[in-house]
Amino acid sequence: MAAALPVPLPPGQQAGGPLTALAPMQDVTDLAFMRVIAHYGAPDYFFTEFFRVHAQSRPEKHILRSIDENTTGRPVFAQLIGEDLGHLARTVDELLRHNVAGIDLNLGCPAPKVYKKNVGGGLLRDPDTVDRILGTLRAAVPGLFTVKMRIGFEDTTHFNRLLDLVNAHRVDLLSVHGRTVKEMYRSEVRYDFIARAVARARCPVLANGNITSAARAAGVVAETRAAGVMIGRHAIRNPWIFQQCRALFAGAPIPRLTLAEVRDYIERLYRATEVPGLPERDHVNKMKKYLNFVGQGVDATGAFLHDMRRAESESGLFSVCDRHLVAAGAAAREFSLEPYPGVIARPNCETPAAIADGCSLETVTA
Ligand SMILES: Cc1cc2nc3c(=O)[nH]c(=O)nc-3n(C[C@H](O)[C@H](O)[C@H](O)COP(=O)(O)O)c2cc1C
Repeated sequence: MAAALPVPLPPGQQAGGPLTALAPMQDVTDLAFMRVIAHYGAPDYFFTEFFRVHAQSRPEKHILRSIDENTTGRPVFAQLIGEDLGHLARTVDELLRHNVAGIDLNLGCPAPKVYKKNVGGGLLRDPDTVDRILGTLRAAVPGLFTVKMRIGFEDTTHFNRLLDLVNAHRVDLLSVHGRTVKEMYRSEVRYDFIARAVARARCPVLANGNITSAARAAGVVAETRAAGVMIGRHAIRNPWIFQQCRALFAGAPIPRLTLAEVRDYIERLYRATEVPGLPERDHVNKMKKYLNFVGQGVDATGAFLHDMRRAESESGLFSVCDRHLVAAGAAAREFSLEPYPGVIARPNCETPAAIADGCSLETVTA
């Protein structure tokens, strides 16, 4: 029997330009967030939060909503995390009944609770198991099969072998976060390793890690020759980033934003993330987790972050927003394209104890 022909990747929105993707982020990239991002300029591709795969798992309903009710018009890849071959194949069958652009495998999650189960980033220690998982998934996915990986677990010993496995199993798209699992989220990103992946992998590669702005995206694409960029935390800070990337890639001026527009973004995010029955205080606390990132572009001293963290109610939160983003001439001030240096989203929380539970907004800083 002739081998099935490879399925082409969905075209990007800018013919010939680098691709853009919103990075999968647990507790963040749900339906509400994807809708808000799309309002400001959708990425070419979305990736869901990871579906956990094990003997008792069924695709989580709230994650399925980000596929089934997605009206952004952009393709959504469903991400899996797991290591049991039978249950991975079963989950693929279940997910293929939904409108997914493809199936993505998580080989990067650095949370000890996750990697100790030998899934996510934990698998990077064990290329033989990766070989079997990629083989199973490739056989189960008739369409696009993609992988998101870090450059190693403790070190990069297996990097070339892992890339060879990506080739051997005809992975269609590879996203590379240029850090090891042990490096978590804050060390320098090794773009030289992303360039090595681009040179060795037969499929297109998306460069991921600390792409803070459109200018940075263009710089990383030039440096690595990647097919595009995948952006996570800096899209929470700046949801216009994909539109700004497209402008820069096309040689047009980068659209600038004012703090008044940031105030509107916060309001839109607040309304989009309202859930019936969610107590106001809990909703405000949830908003603070996004605003930890947004605040990095508001002022150089971190004054917005300081005041925002003390808000206890919706009205309290929006009066902080009005004070910092609208009053006394703030409305017309420019929202920084880059995060202000030294303004940290959540200081001192990247300890092994703090990140034990997963890749979540509770624990990850920028
Ligand atoms: C809150 C949060 C949740 C994350 N959840 C996931 C996830 O579910 N799957 C995954 O592959 N990576 C996850 N990541 C990693 C991101 O996709 C991305 O690789 C990382 O944040 C580096 O990119 P950035 O510097 O653009 O944020 C998460 C990151 C954050 C900050």
